Amino acid sequence: MLKLGVNIDHVATLREARYRGRERGEPDPIEAALICESAGAHGITAHLREDRRHIQDHDIRRLRDVLKVRLNLEMAATEEITGIALHIRPDIVCLVPEHRAEVTTEGGLDVAGNWPALAETRRRMNDAGIEVSLFIAPDPEQVEAAGRVGSQFIELHTGAYAENFNRKRERARETERLIAAAEQARALGLGVNAGHGLNYRNVGGLRPVPHLVELNIGHSIISRAVIVGLATAVREMLLAMEQLGAGQP
Ligand code: PXP
Repeated sequence: MLKLGVNIDHVATLREARYRGRERGEPDPIEAALICESAGAHGITAHLREDRRHIQDHDIRRLRDVLKVRLNLEMAATEEITGIALHIRPDIVCLVPEHRAEVTTEGGLDVAGNWPALAETRRRMNDAGIEVSLFIAPDPEQVEAAGRVGSQFIELHTGAYAENFNRKRERARETERLIAAAEQARALGLGVNAGHGLNYRNVGGLRPVPHLVELNIGHSIISRAVIVGLATAVREMLLAMEQLGAGQP
């Protein structure tokens, strides 16, 4: 069965917009993660960025404490974040490229150009009992390099697929790239995850891509939650305001 990992970064983004630098604030990403868990998500994904723009260190610690499903820590392979991961021990880390100016993770990792250093990070994680995934574009040289690194998984970057979903020819080309990369990864003994830009419309188009184990989806699910949850939130506030009722004109 294809698994779903829910990325809860955007819940923290909303909290940080109001409560940056404070220990607590709403919405609480841990509460959100527990709702995802009880709704059937198979894993929770959170990206501890170097600039801490959304998820904070204490979020990762609390997630580790409370989750029953798998915790997937997205991270750049820097010394600082590697140290945190080795200490907190998520079930799996997904190594991603990170640029301060980007809104979200933009490209895949250049595994081919950095494989000895990535292999060392992979070894340190595996020695601590943490699985490793590499977030890569569906390019043959990157998949091949991921095999050399010896990670347990790759996560195929579906951004180009999602961007081109409404263009017939380009979508077919991007789907073919994903299919080829998944086949190649499987032949190398790598597990295949995918994510980025997936939503309620385009997820079904991944049907021809073989060997997928897990999809990591964030923006679309959190966006949808705002829309489908808004009516309840308004009703609850009206209920809370009823207590004011008597004294008002
Ligand atoms: N997978 C990886 C490696 C990511 O960096 C992201 C974005 O943080 C996602 C999946 C989720 O992407 P989206 O928010 O577009 O669903």
